Amino acid sequence: MRAVIELVNVRKVYRIGGEEVYAVNGVSMSVRKGEFLCIMGASGSGKTTLLSLMGCLDRPTSGKVLIDGIDTSSLSDRELTDIRRDKIGFVFQQYHLIPTLTAFENVELPMLLKGVPKAERERRAMELLEIMGIAKAANRKPSELSGGMQQRVAIARALANDPEILLCDEPTGNLDTKSGEVVMNLIEEQNERGVTVVLVTHDPDIAKYAERVVRIRDGKIVEDPGIKLG
Ligand SMILES: Nc1ncnc2c1ncn2[C@@H]1O[C@H](COP(=O)(O)OP(=O)(O)OP(=O)(O)O)[C@@H](O)[C@H]1O
Ligand SMILES: [Mg+2]
Repeated sequence: MRAVIELVNVRKVYRIGGEEVYAVNGVSMSVRKGEFLCIMGASGSGKTTLLSLMGCLDRPTSGKVLIDGIDTSSLSDRELTDIRRDKIGFVFQQYHLIPTLTAFENVELPMLLKGVPKAERERRAMELLEIMGIAKAANRKPSELSGGMQQRVAIARALANDPEILLCDEPTGNLDTKSGEVVMNLIEEQNERGVTVVLVTHDPDIAKYAERVVRIRDGKIVEDPGIKLG
């Protein structure tokens, strides 16, 4: 199986005042096509930073991030934006929906940015809301939805442009157990359709959904059944 995401000795250093924080400190790993991978680690261990690097939301301080074999360090910001829009869907812990738009419009937005024709956008947005079981809430604003419903809208939005890769940062972190299960089942269904899923969590019950669990501590991988650590 080829790697959809490959990290080669990736570091991300933040400078706060005079101090350097190594949020990700020399990580090498591959994510294979169709995999359901979970990244676990304590708060502050670098999970969100690692996921942002995998999703080209941010560039590493050093090392390489390859998406589908393409070295992203050779790409312009514009080209990176295109890769994100076409290949990658993000689901954030805090949903990050646009408050002034309805559920429907939030799901439609990535397609609008990609230039998908109106009829196709509307068909696809409605289809996704139906798949997520929230079609009835299409015309509601995020503030009129429960947390679980907002997260389902966020997943629908992440899937709008049919990404190969779905990156989820603590997608059930703000949900009750029942809504969390609904959201995890929806993510699992996407993986069964062939979408590569990388999910960050510190909840062992959530990690059970994954076929491979990578553990990080202080920005370093301490356990990865997918590779031999030397
Ligand atoms: N934009 C930033 N500027 C400065 N330091 C940052 C920034 N983002 C993260 N850090 C630092 O990098 C380290 C890793 O942060 P990160 O958010 O990746 O951890 P995390 O594992 O996602 O934590 P949590 O479980 O609390 O979400 C922390 O020490 C954090 O303070
Ligand atoms: Mg985090």
